[in-house]
Amino acid sequence: MATIVSVGSGKGGVGKSVIAANLSMLLAKRGKRVVLADLDVGGADAHILFGMLNPPRTLTDFVERRVERLEEVLQPISAHPFLQLLPGTGDTLATANLHYAKKKRLIRNFSQLQADVIIVDIGAGTSYHALDFFLMADHYLTVATPDPTSVLDLYRFIKLAAIRRVLSAFLSRDAVSEVLSDRDFCSIDEVIQAVEATDQNARETASRTLEGFQPHLIVNRISGKSRVNVLQLKKLLKEYVGGDVTMLGEIPDDPAMTRAVRSYLPVVEFEPTAPASLALNQAADTLLAELGKPAAVPTAPAPSPEQAA
Ligand SMILES: Nc1ncnc2c1ncn2[C@@H]1O[C@H](COP(=O)(O)OP(=O)(O)O)[C@@H](O)[C@H]1O
Ligand SMILES: [Mg+2]
Repeated sequence: MATIVSVGSGKGGVGKSVIAANLSMLLAKRGKRVVLADLDVGGADAHILFGMLNPPRTLTDFVERRVERLEEVLQPISAHPFLQLLPGTGDTLATANLHYAKKKRLIRNFSQLQADVIIVDIGAGTSYHALDFFLMADHYLTVATPDPTSVLDLYRFIKLAAIRRVLSAFLSRDAVSEVLSDRDFCSIDEVIQAVEATDQNARETASRTLEGFQPHLIVNRISGKSRVNVLQLKKLLKEYVGGDVTMLGEIPDDPAMTRAVRSYLPVVEFEPTAPASLALNQAADTLLAELGKPAAVPTAPAPSPEQAA
């Protein structure tokens, strides 16, 4: 069964798609059969990065049941025989009518694809769809730039993902999920307090659920003067979320990246010795080592409040 790696961020434009595309390429070069799946709800564009301007089939065909099997949507990528693309469908996934059942069908089908690794490019932001797709993976990868707003948005994204992960641990218990479904939470502690009234083991269940929640972080577009205080971010996350974040790599701000995007090729193919390419190669090695470790226990998606009600 394929290992699923989701790539998320709090903010758009931080380099999620180019990083997902380059890491996919690099894992393929290291002998893995890779599928790059574009689940960006708002702006699917991974196909463009490979020069596929009009994919013959997209996820829309699957979601709207014009094709029965997800494999039928897979597109070969000429850059590497081990790499395939599941082109995204901005419009369909963005509409609210991607119901829970459809999302579940999609997620179930993902795990049945014939591949070693599936890298899923998730849209930016904290919609239910984005969080569910992010959480369905075995390994989580987040991307931020050193820009303070990007770091703040990343913190928010990880926090909400952690909350949603904890919520889904209580789902089978009707009373608890009722309590949880009709309000917003600011912290894990609030969730626990709300649950404790109905479930005395809430704290234990919550912390067990959070133990496996260790998103990896890639900081992108680093330049001489802009660095992220990763230690501080880790401390914040530990204190308020209970989860931990581990560094996967730092990618420099590099004009080669823009040149590669304009040439419809991953930078690691287009300019393999550019600083960004070297850093991406390092990140791919670290990721490969991580994939060898036991994965986070994947969670079933929690229904959105309107569906839980
Ligand atoms: N390390 C980098 N150096 C220079 N430009 C970059 C770098 N990473 C990303 N970019 C630029 O940012 C643009 C947006 O990246 P993209 O992957 O589409 O963002 P996202 O998917 O997060 O919205 C890219 O087209 C590229 O031109
Ligand atoms: Mg993108």
